[in-house]
Amino acid sequence: MRKIFILTSLTAALFLKAAAQEIPIENGWQFARGDSSQWASPAYNDLKWQHIEVNKPWEEQGYPNYDGFGWYRLHFMLPSSIKEKAFLKDSIRINLGIVDDNDEVYLNGKLIGEYGGMGGDIKTSKYGPRSYTIAANNPAILWDKENVLAVRIFDTGGAGGLYGDKHSISMLSLIDNVTINTDGDFYFEENEGISKTIYLSTRSNYVYKGKLNFKVTDPETNTDMREATTDVVFTAGKPFNYPFTIDKLPKRSYKLSYIFTEERSHDIMVKTESTPYVLTPYPGAKPRINGADVYGARPGNPFLYMIPATGRKPMSYSAAGLPDGLKLDSRTGIITGVVAQKGEYPVVFTVHNSAGTKTKKFTIKIGDVIGLTPALGWNSWNAFGLTVNDQKARVAAKTMTDKLAAHGWNYINIDDGWEAPQRTASGEIIPNQKFPDMKGLTGYVHSLGLKMGIYSSPGPRTCGGYLGSWQHEDQDAKTYGDWGIDYLKYDWCSYSEVTNPSPTLADYKKPYQVMRTSLDKIPRDIMFSFCQYGMGDVWKWGAEVGGNSWRSTGDIEDTWKSMSTIGFNQVADGPYAQPGHFNDPDMLVVGKVGWGDNQRNSRLSPDEQYTHISLWSLLSSPLLIGCDMGKLDRFTLGLLTNDEVIAIDQDALGKEARQAIKTDNYQVWIKDLEDGGKAVGVFNTSDKYQTITLQLKDNELGGYTKIRNVWEQKYIITSGTNYTTKVAPHGVVLVKLSK
Ligand code: GAL
Repeated sequence: MRKIFILTSLTAALFLKAAAQEIPIENGWQFARGDSSQWASPAYNDLKWQHIEVNKPWEEQGYPNYDGFGWYRLHFMLPSSIKEKAFLKDSIRINLGIVDDNDEVYLNGKLIGEYGGMGGDIKTSKYGPRSYTIAANNPAILWDKENVLAVRIFDTGGAGGLYGDKHSISMLSLIDNVTINTDGDFYFEENEGISKTIYLSTRSNYVYKGKLNFKVTDPETNTDMREATTDVVFTAGKPFNYPFTIDKLPKRSYKLSYIFTEERSHDIMVKTESTPYVLTPYPGAKPRINGADVYGARPGNPFLYMIPATGRKPMSYSAAGLPDGLKLDSRTGIITGVVAQKGEYPVVFTVHNSAGTKTKKFTIKIGDVIGLTPALGWNSWNAFGLTVNDQKARVAAKTMTDKLAAHGWNYINIDDGWEAPQRTASGEIIPNQKFPDMKGLTGYVHSLGLKMGIYSSPGPRTCGGYLGSWQHEDQDAKTYGDWGIDYLKYDWCSYSEVTNPSPTLADYKKPYQVMRTSLDKIPRDIMFSFCQYGMGDVWKWGAEVGGNSWRSTGDIEDTWKSMSTIGFNQVADGPYAQPGHFNDPDMLVVGKVGWGDNQRNSRLSPDEQYTHISLWSLLSSPLLIGCDMGKLDRFTLGLLTNDEVIAIDQDALGKEARQAIKTDNYQVWIKDLEDGGKAVGVFNTSDKYQTITLQLKDNELGGYTKIRNVWEQKYIITSGTNYTTKVAPHGVVLVKLSK
């Protein structure tokens, strides 16, 4: 029988095979917390163990906050017919889905594979998709009999266990050793066509031959617009490169399919992806002042604000009405100083270049509240995980200056992984070798007009196993102040170990109150970002405890499931957003992400990425870019530099959008804006094109007759009291309505 393997762009490692050669191992797992060598044995009686599902972490199945050892066991039959029907009969592959973090796998009591360490050392921690291949004649396998698979897992923190999409046992086929690599960038040609090179590769010495079929499909009509077939040959070290160019198409996404048919086995592997398209217009030569209309700082503390402006360089900056104590550098647009007096200071910024002059009214509010609009910046975690270092932070800062700061982006935040293993003799926290000079790095970031963020935990250890601030809060706040830190992300993590096992509301607040008090002793404006995943309905008390933002969810991943589940569930917390205090549905997963040493393109499709940025902006979320800034491609830049989209996020009213309509296929979210307008996101949550109509009568949108497509920065001509638009699968149309 022919086998078909499909790799989709959404889940790059997803294999679908014809059922006959594959044994699903999705159901019937038993689970126990703890650790015992007897649990590997097939003879062990696990009947009293708890039933567990392998499509979600153990935290979601009755083991909240559990880290450490856990065992999964499964009894299953392995029919030899799968071997007989296979083209290659020599190996079987066991797909375990995602393992979080490390594992040892026993088949009928024999160790057949292990990955990552069991000692809790975060550096050897190997969270991720896992599969093991063993010889079909391995005596551990009991063909046509009951087998027992036992998986010992060690979770170092956060979500734990077995989860993900695909749990199966199959015969290894010729095509299992083939990769269709689509990681390269798309290039946008001058004539607006796009080009890319993909390649077929293998680590096997077998010489693969076959055909590669390439198709461009219109996802709306499902018609193939272009098709080509090529003979291919590749082997280890000699990949087959397939460059292609697609001529200019209307601005939307098209589906690309790469279909490889192996000549001898007739096995097929399919990989699909969607084409990127850029809606954001290039900024013109004339000056334009971007970013929020308001900025808050505390009296007596160092002030730093860079006027974000696009336009032909060089530009000169001036400001009328600056409060006493501030000065503006007319070449860079950077305002520094200290303001002693509380008050609201109306200012007029002017930016001038050879193409013209632009002014903008702006308000500087010197008072108790900072972070009046959500933070715009970069955080190292989604890109580099624990491998962040000084160099990577500098690249992010330089890139932000060159490409993003003109649109209002300004924070460079180092997440977990910067801390040394030991404090100094006097108890001071110090950075590890990856950050040889934290103060120097902060100075560099400030010299660019940007701000610097850092990360810690109220517990003894961070989620990554590094030192936390427990019982050193005053000392750490002082150190951050000495370095010049402007932002602290404070992550609950191991605080569970030092608080009540069933925390009360007071227990949830406590560590944040303690650090708030410590930060208040420091003569700096330090944004305080709570990270405790929404526990105790943090949105209800985050502002009162002095948080500028608080995570309302667990960690985001670069999948539609993760991003859409998080984004479209920000309902209960919505009403609590206000200037200075925002919900944080976690950092962005656009661009090249990877949480470690290897970065890859976000697995969100281009339309899903438009949805992500639009929805987060409607939610008044901190926008923290989570990608390798050194590898920003044109599509990602377009996503991050649309001033009208950013203006929705940065709107001074500080309200969050509400879910106005929710159907099985689409949702409409509406955000009130400072100027009386409404930002409206029309989201297609289905996987087919939808035509969606917004009523502009007899509802809160009545009388709003001016409609502007925000991504394209164009007014839309409509007549009557309806606005009808086509929305791509998982995509969005974001409009601004005014009267
Ligand atoms: C998680 C947190 C992530 C990241 C990580 C660092 O708890 O949600 O955003 O900070 O810890 O270890």
